[in-house]
Amino acid sequence: MKANVIVHKDFAVSPIDDRVYSSFLEHLGRAIYTGIYEPGHPTADEDGFRGDVIDLVRAVKTPYVRYPGGNFVSAYNWEDGIGPRELRPTRLDLAWRTRDDNRIGVNEFVDWCKKADTKPMLAVNLGSRGLDAARNFVEYCNHPGGSYWSDLRRQHGWKDPHNVKLWCLGNEMDGPWQVGHKTAEEYGRLANETAKAMRLFDKSLELIVCGSSNADMPTYPDWEATVLDHTYDSIDHISLHMYFANNEHDTLNYLAKGEKLDRYINTIGGVIDFIKAKKRSKKDVKISFDEWNVWYHSREQDKKILEGDEWPDAPHLLEDLYNFEDVLQVGGILNTFIRRADRVKIACIAQLVNVIAPIMTEEGGPAWKQTIYYPFLYASIYGRGTSLRAVVDGPTYDSEFGDDVPYLDVSAVRSVAGDEVTFFIVNRHLTETLDLAATLEGFPGARLVEHIQMTHPDLNAINTAANPDNVVPKTVSGTVVEAGKLQSKLPPLSYNVIRVAV
Ligand code: AHR
Repeated sequence: MKANVIVHKDFAVSPIDDRVYSSFLEHLGRAIYTGIYEPGHPTADEDGFRGDVIDLVRAVKTPYVRYPGGNFVSAYNWEDGIGPRELRPTRLDLAWRTRDDNRIGVNEFVDWCKKADTKPMLAVNLGSRGLDAARNFVEYCNHPGGSYWSDLRRQHGWKDPHNVKLWCLGNEMDGPWQVGHKTAEEYGRLANETAKAMRLFDKSLELIVCGSSNADMPTYPDWEATVLDHTYDSIDHISLHMYFANNEHDTLNYLAKGEKLDRYINTIGGVIDFIKAKKRSKKDVKISFDEWNVWYHSREQDKKILEGDEWPDAPHLLEDLYNFEDVLQVGGILNTFIRRADRVKIACIAQLVNVIAPIMTEEGGPAWKQTIYYPFLYASIYGRGTSLRAVVDGPTYDSEFGDDVPYLDVSAVRSVAGDEVTFFIVNRHLTETLDLAATLEGFPGARLVEHIQMTHPDLNAINTAANPDNVVPKTVSGTVVEAGKLQSKLPPLSYNVIRVAV
C-alpha cells in the first residue's frame, strides 16, 4: 500500500496555539487526593504535592490545567476551599457521589501549577450558583488588594494575585446530568451577564462559554447558535467536549471516529461564522476543546460507586487503563487539533492524573505513564509552531463515521524557529505496511533528525505500575530524507513521529 503526502513551506493552515496541549484536573476520584496531593508520600514536598507526579507533568509541558471541574464545578462553593484547612467544610459532591474535605482549594491549586510549570484555567459555577459567586471568585483570585475578597486572599497567605486569565463559564450546561442544567436561552443569558460582570472587573480576561457536551446531544447544534447569539460580544471561546470509546471492539470504526471530531469542529465553526455575520461582528470566536480523551474502559466498574450510596473519599473512579489501540486514537485526535489549528485554540486532555489520564499513581507507591502519555508528550513538544497543510493521496476505507477515511492519518508542523518539520502519522491499516513518500516543497537541504515509533503486537497491551514499560516508543531506522523527499515504511497500526531538519 502506498501513500503520498505533500507539504509546502508557504501553505500553512495557521499558527498552532500552544494551549491546545492543555489538560484538566477535577475534584473527581483520585485526581487531586493521592493524585497530585498526597502528604506523607515519599516524594511529597512541604505542601504535600507528589514530586514524582510533578516531574511527569513538567515533562509533558502542558501549558494550562483546567480546574476544579467538570461536573464537580456545578455544585461547588469555591469559598469552601479557602482559609484555614481545619475550618473548611466537608461536602458531598453530587456529581461523583464522593465526599470532599476541601483540603485543596484554589490557592493550593495555583501553587501546584507553579511547581508543575503550568498555569490555571478556572471554571466558575453557573449550575447551582451564578454571577455573584463568579465575580467574587475572580476578585479573590486576581485583585491585588484593598477590597474585601482580595484582602481575604492576602490574609489567607497569598499576597500576590493569581492573575488567572482563562475562565470557563460553567461546565456542560446543556447536559441534563448537570446540577443546575439549563436551556440554551437560560444559560445564554446567565453566561452573558456573568461574562459582562467579569469583563467590568478586567477586560483582558479570556472567557469560555459552554457549547455542547458532545455532538450527539439532542440540542446540538442549536445550543451553540442560541448561546452564541446571547454571548458573542462578551466571550472569546466556545467549549466543546468529546470522548471516544471502542465498545464494539471494532478497531477500524474506532479509529475513524476522528471524522466525527472533524465534522464537529467544522459544524461549530459554521455556527460561529453564522452568528458573527448575523451580528456584523469583526471578532472571531474560537473553539476551546476543553475535554477530550478515550473514556470507556472503567465505565462498568464505576457503577458501584456512582449508583451506590457510600459517599467515599477519593475513590478509584474513571481509572481507565489505556491500551496500545488508544495510542492510535489519541495520536489521531491530536492530529485533528493540529490540522484544525485555525479554529481550535485551546484543548484539554481530560484528564491529567488518575482520572481518564495519561499519568497514574498508586497511593504510597509509584507514578507511571499510561500508553497515551506518549502521543500527548510528542505533540506537546514537537507540535508547536505552524500547522502545515498536508495533502494526502492514499488508500481509504468506509466506516460508520464516514466514507473515504484515509488509512494514513497525518499532521505536519513547522517548528517555531522554522528549522524543523515534524510529521505525526498514524497508519490505521490493520495488516498492511504503508509505503510513505512525502514531498517537502520549499525546504532545500531537508534531512532526517529521528523517527520515533510506537507499535505493539497486542492492541490490548497496557502499562501498569508493575510493568510500566510494556508499551513504549522506540527510535527506528530505515526512514530516508533525500532531495526533498521523505521515504518510510510505516507498519500496520503504528504511531509515528518523524522529525525533519529544514
Ligand atoms: O471528565 C469527566 C467528566 O466528563 C467531566 O466532569 C464532565 O464535564 C464530562 O462529562
